[in-house]
Amino acid sequence: MSPFGSRFLGNCLVAYAPAKVNLTLRVTGRRADGYHELRSLVVTIDLVDTLVLSPGSAGTIDLRVNVPELNRDDNLVVTALRMVAQRLSPDRSDAGVRVYLHKRIPHGAGLGGGSSDGSCALRAGRDWFAVRMNDGELYELSAQLGSDCPFFVERRKAALLMGRGERLMPVRLDTRLDFVIVWPRVPVSTAEVFRRCQPVKSEETTEERLLALLNDGVRDLRLQSLLKNDLLDPAVSLCPAIGEALDALRGMGIPATMSGSGSAVVGIAQDRESAVAIARRLRQQLPHFVTVARSLE
Ligand code: C5P
Repeated sequence: MSPFGSRFLGNCLVAYAPAKVNLTLRVTGRRADGYHELRSLVVTIDLVDTLVLSPGSAGTIDLRVNVPELNRDDNLVVTALRMVAQRLSPDRSDAGVRVYLHKRIPHGAGLGGGSSDGSCALRAGRDWFAVRMNDGELYELSAQLGSDCPFFVERRKAALLMGRGERLMPVRLDTRLDFVIVWPRVPVSTAEVFRRCQPVKSEETTEERLLALLNDGVRDLRLQSLLKNDLLDPAVSLCPAIGEALDALRGMGIPATMSGSGSAVVGIAQDRESAVAIARRLRQQLPHFVTVARSLE
């Protein structure tokens, strides 16, 4: 099944929520509403969380997560399902659901795990509760849920994000990318990283040049100067292990950057085989979570 897929199995609905990596993230301004204007090239990867929806007690949304600290009422999965359940007609308003969320995507890592889970829950909730909602309404709800959520709810394999992250520009990425992901196991707060960031005007052609090189099959250090993340310094000031993880990846001779607001860093390998070999060597050197992932076909 596709990393974005879902299907009914008996009386359960199983749905998948993939992670993303940001290859660039430029913060270009601070807005009156407290958010930041940004420009970011994002790519979906095949590292996925799983949601399983099954019948629950009347009127309840009951979440269980394999990561205990995410078993909270403000988990975006619960918020998303509440948003959908509010649209139930009065005669069905006692519908309930039990959700099991199996996390594989590290949280607080800048890999979009929480946003992807929430976006997946919006779509799955629509199917589960059989609520009438067109794709435009789904997009609107996702933008309320979080800045990254429209990207996931639209199920793109890559996009250029603008505005506070909710505006999606299409991009052409017709090549697979093999990533090595290193997460120092220290979650960082997105809000705190943005608070410490100074917006800068930046060149608008970075993403175009990066995509051209990637589509030409370039996977070496020529990419490095284009992998810019304006949140890196503020994130390192909160979590110095990010800088060490980045040095370790670059020490393997591959271009690397931080994803989102961190704390995961991501390197672009030549191919799957070299990604696996680098990940193996890094696991011997570092106590961090290290994995490999691919962009979608
Ligand atoms: O939109 P979301 O809830 O995911 O964002 C989390 C926090 O990150 C926001 O409350 C805000 O402090 C910060 N943020 C920002 N500018 C953005 C996106 C997020 O300042 N474009």
